[in-house]
Amino acid sequence: MDKTKFLDLGRQPIANGFLTEDQFENEFFYDLSVGFDRETALVTHMEYVKPSLMFNDEYSYRGSMSNTMKLHFATFSKYVKQFLPKKHKVLEIGSNDGVFLVNWNSDRCFAVEPCGNFAKETNQLGYKTYCGFWGGDLSQQILSDVGTMDLVFAANCMCHIPDLDNTFSAVEKILSDDGFFIFEDPSLIEMINVNSYDQIYDEHPHIFSVTALNTILQRNGLSIVRVDNTSVHGGSNRIWVKKSHFAKADDSVARNLEIEKIFRIGEEDTLHRFAERVRQSRKDLGDLLCRCKELGKRVISYGATSKSTTIFNYCKIGKDLIEYITDTTPEKQGKYSPGVHIPIISPEDGFNPSVDFAFLGAWNFSREIKEKEKDFKGKFITHVPIVRVL
Ligand code: TYD
Repeated sequence: MDKTKFLDLGRQPIANGFLTEDQFENEFFYDLSVGFDRETALVTHMEYVKPSLMFNDEYSYRGSMSNTMKLHFATFSKYVKQFLPKKHKVLEIGSNDGVFLVNWNSDRCFAVEPCGNFAKETNQLGYKTYCGFWGGDLSQQILSDVGTMDLVFAANCMCHIPDLDNTFSAVEKILSDDGFFIFEDPSLIEMINVNSYDQIYDEHPHIFSVTALNTILQRNGLSIVRVDNTSVHGGSNRIWVKKSHFAKADDSVARNLEIEKIFRIGEEDTLHRFAERVRQSRKDLGDLLCRCKELGKRVISYGATSKSTTIFNYCKIGKDLIEYITDTTPEKQGKYSPGVHIPIISPEDGFNPSVDFAFLGAWNFSREIKEKEKDFKGKFITHVPIVRVL
């Protein structure tokens, strides 16, 4: 790849590496810089973190912690069945705790998941789950065990994998001639639009544009046939793909490519302007939190997200500015946030009337959260699209 750097987010820890006090000393850090590949227009990290440092048996992110995502996958699963043969076979890559799988018949639905804790859980639910990293070898093994797939699905997973050529060619091999490969990930255009630079962390080595995906998929025998713009995770694209020989694109593909062209998504200047706004956002958030502290306000954070790991480490926000973080995930409670070591507690223990301000670490679920917390007397703070009190 011919990459040029446009953004430096400084030294960062493993974004989902929530830790105990005795682990502080040996915490792993790396330099998070983001670049632009001139050949494909892919936005990608300058250097990739080794996947096994992030995805292992201690992985703590649970997709099923939000009702929004549960409903999102249930609705999509019901919808997509009309495009599949009656006795369809489905493979999910990156199945996490089974939030998508539970919508499918376990006899004909298979999964791949590198985190042993979750692979065990979904195997126990009855879904044959291969514990490992997706690629040519695993694709070959599943092909020999169960044959080709009518649907290969991946949510917030393809952008996690450094080697996209190996990933996509492995999908091409296992897909039936008429099969669909459908995947969804945060959208680059949306990230730039709302200045959500916190989408960038170790697990997201790429932030996809349709433009870049179009080129990379095509060189692996695959073509985009449809693009859905969805609101989940702050704005994502659901990309529908078929084997190139069997592909016929609908209008949504040309429309998305056109919008990205108008937006100058494939030009370096666009990214340099974005980087400028990111630096301004850091300054504004630091100023706002310092003012809250000067006034003696009680400030916490809502949702111990990977995204907030990027923000807190980049903006140097620690316990002095944010007292604690609340999160519903049992695996995160009682631990500390990566890098800046802010304690994490349950909402029952921490989200109470003494809180003046809550920074929305899980801003992508703000609608769900505001609905759930409608009796909250304090105010939420967000950094998207600009730093402000809601
Ligand atoms: P998400 O935004 O998907 O995180 P990431 O940036 O890691 O991809 O995760 C939301 C986090 O917020 C997750 O740990 C669960 C937590 N959460 C709450 O604590 N309360 C809530 O009401 C919701 C919706 C999420």
